[in-house]
Amino acid sequence: MAPETQHPQLPLPDYFSKFAAMYARGTGHATLNILGDVITGDIQTSDSPIGPESVVHDTASGPGIGAAALVAHLPKDKLPKEVLVSDNVPPMVEAARNSLVASPLPSVKCQVLDSQDLSSIPDGYFTHSINNFSIFTFTRPVEAVRETYRTLRPGGLAVITCWRRFAPMFIVHAAQKMIRPDLPLTPTPSPQFFEDGVLQKVVEEAGFPSAGIAVTTKELVIVDEDNKAGLSAFMSGPLMQAARQGYTEEEKGRWSEAISHAVKSEVEQFGGIRFEAYVLLATK
Ligand SMILES: C[S@@+](CC[C@H](N)C(=O)[O-])C[C@H]1O[C@@H](n2cnc3c(N)ncnc32)[C@H](O)[C@@H]1O
Repeated sequence: MAPETQHPQLPLPDYFSKFAAMYARGTGHATLNILGDVITGDIQTSDSPIGPESVVHDTASGPGIGAAALVAHLPKDKLPKEVLVSDNVPPMVEAARNSLVASPLPSVKCQVLDSQDLSSIPDGYFTHSINNFSIFTFTRPVEAVRETYRTLRPGGLAVITCWRRFAPMFIVHAAQKMIRPDLPLTPTPSPQFFEDGVLQKVVEEAGFPSAGIAVTTKELVIVDEDNKAGLSAFMSGPLMQAARQGYTEEEKGRWSEAISHAVKSEVEQFGGIRFEAYVLLATK
């Protein structure tokens, strides 16, 4: 049986371990760039902006995306005094540690932690908690948000994002339809989170008062050639091997070309590779 924290629809037991080394490029920096926009346009304009007295948790951080976005989007005198970067996949935490070695953050710790069980952290510790594009990968999303609520100070701010349109899913499905339209399309982990209202319901169920919750949407169209190439490499490569299940060797050999065609159609339709996200801010 898969370990309890492994999502049933993620293709490999150690999927995120394999992903760690090429994560930022393979996502076309989409999660990083959307979070950067959230920091500037939503967090810093809220009643609880991040500043030098803040204590921030980036939970299910991947290779330190939250901390990287803080460094890229806040002036030095607004950087928080303490940042905890955590993920339950050791290679992600190691990648975060390596990328933050020379960061200007006054104090940053990188730890292997399960977002759904933060029992090593006392109640009310953080002023801000970031959970960026990870909620759909949890087996127990309500538990994770409950831990976010518990570890935030009264008045603290949680920032939770999830996809509304995850472009690689459309591109991979288009490629699958080109080569083997008879086979089932690759499933998406926790597809309910793509629907309006689901994220807010989970956050309310975890204890955040509905009056303190605000949800907006954001769009990111990736036009940068390097970012398009990174996403194409991710979709063409071994991390998407589950999409080629049941293929002959000859069909597998046509996969990269099918992805290129599908990327081209996406760009023709939207001017780039188009992501849409839900951005939820919740005050404790
Ligand atoms: C799609 S990635 C998002 C990473 C990052 N937050 C970002 O902005 O790109 C999902 C991350 O959640 C982590 N993850 C999944 N389940 C987890 C859990 N129960 N506890 C902690 N991290 C988890 C994975 O290891 C992976 O790094």
